[in-house]
Parts: sequence; structure tokens; C-alpha cells
Amino acid sequence: MNIDRNWWKNKIAYQVYPRSFCDANGDGTGDIKGITSKLDYLQSLGVGLLWLSPVYRSPMDDGGYDISDYRDIDPIFGNMDDMDELIREADKRGIKILMDLVINHCSDEHEWFKKALADPNSEEAGYFWFVNSKDGAPNNWRSMFGGSAWENVGGDRYYMHLFSKKQPDLNWENPVLREKLYDMVNFWLEKGLGGFRIDAIVHIKKMEGLPSGPADNPDGMVGCFAYARNIDGIGDYLTELRKRTFDNYQCVTVAEAAGVPNEQLVDYIGKDGYFSTMFDFSYSEPYNYGHGWHTCKGPGEWSFRRWRDTLYASQLDTQKIGYGAVFLENHDYPRAIQKFIPEKDHCPRVQMMLGNMFFFLRGIPFIYQGQELGMTNPGFTSIDVIDDISTKNHYSLAINDGLEPEKAMKLVARYSRDNARVPFPWDDSENGGFSASGVKTWLPVHPDYKTVNAAAEMSDPNSVLAFYKEMVRIRTKSEYAEVIQDGVFAPILKQYDKLIAYTRTLVGKKRLAVICSFSDKKRKIKLPFDAGALVLSSHDEYSIEDGVLTLLPYQSVMLEI
Ligand code: NOJ
Repeated sequence: MNIDRNWWKNKIAYQVYPRSFCDANGDGTGDIKGITSKLDYLQSLGVGLLWLSPVYRSPMDDGGYDISDYRDIDPIFGNMDDMDELIREADKRGIKILMDLVINHCSDEHEWFKKALADPNSEEAGYFWFVNSKDGAPNNWRSMFGGSAWENVGGDRYYMHLFSKKQPDLNWENPVLREKLYDMVNFWLEKGLGGFRIDAIVHIKKMEGLPSGPADNPDGMVGCFAYARNIDGIGDYLTELRKRTFDNYQCVTVAEAAGVPNEQLVDYIGKDGYFSTMFDFSYSEPYNYGHGWHTCKGPGEWSFRRWRDTLYASQLDTQKIGYGAVFLENHDYPRAIQKFIPEKDHCPRVQMMLGNMFFFLRGIPFIYQGQELGMTNPGFTSIDVIDDISTKNHYSLAINDGLEPEKAMKLVARYSRDNARVPFPWDDSENGGFSASGVKTWLPVHPDYKTVNAAAEMSDPNSVLAFYKEMVRIRTKSEYAEVIQDGVFAPILKQYDKLIAYTRTLVGKKRLAVICSFSDKKRKIKLPFDAGALVLSSHDEYSIEDGVLTLLPYQSVMLEI
């Protein structure tokens, strides 16, 4: 078979959080038929790749990232026929589906784990990290959702879970397990998927001997990153995975690969890398949460320059090696405006500026559902409405640190993953058209749904949605498509604070400059080039005189050079 390895590079990717996109059967939770019913919307936005967060059978301890059957669909989302229909219907509209591949861990309700638990001598016991330890947990690693990374199952028997205790880690050292996983991956690829977004894949190799480390907190534990992320030897598994599965299909693989050091980028996304592309998280948390979300800094309180330089470094390093995947939002973060912009300045134009800033970086852009509408955090005030395991953990950390519940909630709510997981607002009817009226939705609908919704924005030429559609058009269908896809990235105007500015250049062809102001003041910028046509602006006003560009507060422009 003749496989084109670059077919995905000119696409726009979109992430759906299936629980919250569209509820077709009126039970308050989004489902696959709901997604299928909205494919026309996605097509009109120009989406070419559609990443679904997990829809496999799952007890939903971690929103479906705890899979109890890799070959089945959870009943809350529908069934396999619905999935096949979605793949077919998406195909008809030129959209390829990416499933979420969660193979660092499964659910403790997976039959493998149940057998392993029941019989320490079973084949399945070898699929997990069971360790006997007489003096408590086998080591002092802290899990990502808080507490020990080990759970006792009676006597001196423990199993490892880098995430929640309902997400036992799979033991990739076991060749039988690896075969089972490859079979499963091929089962899905045979259905004609576009590929996978690959969850937590950098964690599949653990440090030899599972050593304890020096405590980094009064709890006596140590974060597990140094012992279970990008550990030497991981490449053997990733190469095998690729060869046995992805290599044999025309698919794209997008790795969730946080913390990959520069010198290893080539192994991950170089010409013969393990994956087609990957997300870089180096610039997504400038607020740096150290101990917990309640100790995070708010917008304006962290170093803008450091954040910007990290973003530039990521672009510069990645383009030497391969093609990255760029994003502003996903299901694990609050809405971007909340992270980057002080609350007093929030408005649709600022959403456009943020969109503009990320959308023309080098790499395939991923839009997260609702980002194209300029959604904000819904403003949770009570932990009781929260579903997310991570938010509950950070709330407990804040309470344990002595914060009053109200204060703890206020601080933790800013960064809750549920901010981005509330139902998608389709229109101004009850429940924002996400569920039928009278239905209680699994998370509350956003309080702004009457004004911020897809129907309202579709009929407003000045909406954030209209701006996103224009960005998609420029990126895929205009005379600038080629330079935006392949052009070299270079930062410019670094002497200005609160400014993200870069050029994209295809020598001998086109050259573009993107200039985005993060200042709440009007300002003047001396351009280092002769400006040509204005390609895009977040605001209607625009002026360049004698090589000096005047920008309104939070304005972005894209200019031809
Ligand atoms: C990353 C996923 O994006 C997140 O939602 C999940 O909690 C962890 N991996 C564990 O699967």
C-alpha cells in the first residue's frame, strides 16, 4: 500500500469532549449520535480531523480515561453501530475521526484487572505492576491525582497507579500485554479511523527497580515524573508499537508527550519518529502551580516574557525536527482567556486576539469545543457540582492547607478541568440546546448560554465564531495557506513587553507577520519591515504610519510582508 504520511498537515483539528458536545437521547449526557448530528456544524467550521476524548466502556472515574473495555462503547455514549455511523458520516464530510488511545493504564473494572486481582498467578497479573511489600507502599511516588501511587489490595500486595487508584498502570514489560494492545489498536484502525491522540504515553516505562526518591513535600512523597516519564528504554516500546500498528495504515498519531527534552524530540516526531506529531505543554501553564491550584498565580502575576520565550523556544526547537500540534485549550485546562488575561479585560475581541496568536503558529492547530465561540469559565461556586477528580483533589489540598471552603473553591475553580467540560451551548433555548428542556445536564450549562452560543454567533459577522471561520479559511483556502502550513517561524519585536509577534516565511514565496498585543493600553510598535496587505485584525480599527503600527488594547493583526 502506498501510504501518504503527510496527508493531515493541511487540516484543522477539533477536539470534542463527548459527554458535553450534544445529547441526542435526552439523558443529560452527550453521546455519539449527538456528535454525528453536529457534523455539518464542524464541516462548516472547516474541521478536517475530529479528536474524540474517550468513548470506550468506562466507569468514568476520570471522565473515560479509565477504560474497562477497549473494544466497546460506553452505553452513555451509544454503541458500536453509532460509532461506525459517526466514522462513515464524518468521512462523507471530509472529516477523519481520531480516537483517544489510553494505554498507559486501564480501569480497575477491566476484566484483565479483575482476573489479576483474583489470582496473583494469573496471566493477567503480569499485565499490571503488582508488588509485594511488607512495610507499606513499595516506594514513595505520589500519583498525579494526589496520594500514594500504590494501592493495597490486601496483605502485602500493592499495585501501581500513576493516576487515580481506579486507573491501574499497565506493565509494558509484559510481551503478552503488548500484543493484546497492538491487536486492539489495529481493530480500531481497521474501521477506517484517521488515527489517534495518544494519552499519557510518556509514562509507559518506569525506572528500573522502582526506587523511592527524596520527598518534595511534607507528605513524604515525591512526584513520579522523574521515575516514570520518558525513562530510558521507552523508545523500544514506542518503536514496536509504531511498527506493529500505525506504520501499516494511513493514520496520524498525536502524542500527549509532556516533558520530552529537546534532544529527544527527534525520536518522537523526527522523520522516523514514534509519532506523526505531538503536543508540547511547555507553555501551557505559565502560572506554575507548585503545590496546588490554590497556590497558582493569576493572569498578570507571572512573567509574560518567560511565557512568551518558552512558546518561541518550543516553536523554534520543534521546527528543526518535525511538525508540532498547537493548541490553546483542551479538556484538562480552564478556558484560555482565564489563564492568560486579567478578568477585567475579558471580551470577545480578546478571544479573537488569543485565537490569532495561536492559530498561525507552525504546526497543526487543535480547536477545543467552545473555544471557537469564545467561551469563558462558568464560575463554579460549589465543589458539589464538580465531577472532575483532579479538581476534587486540589480542593482537598487547599482545605488541608487551612483555607476556608469558600476561599478554597474560589481559588481552585479558576483552574478546574470542569471549566471546559460544561455542555456546549448550541442556542439560547433551555439547556443551551445541548439537552432537551427539562433534562438535568451532567454538569451545569454555562450561565452565558443565552448570548454565547453557536446559533447566535453563526448569524453575527462580528462574532468569535466568524473570526475563527475566517482564520480557518486563511489557513486552508487562501493564497497564504502554503506559508502558514510550511513557512519558517521566527520571533520578532522581542524588545516589546506584552507582545507576541512572529513571522512565517517561505523563501521566494510569501511572508507573513502576526503581531498580538497583550497590553490593556493603546500602543505604538515600530515595524522592522515594510508592511503589505492587512490579512486579519481582531479589531476594526487599524493604522500604520511611517512604519509605526498603532495597536488598540489587546489587538492582533496579521500582515503580509
Ligand atoms: C491526560 C488526559 O488528557 C487527562 O484528562 C487524564 O486525566 C490523564 N491523561 C489520565 O489518563
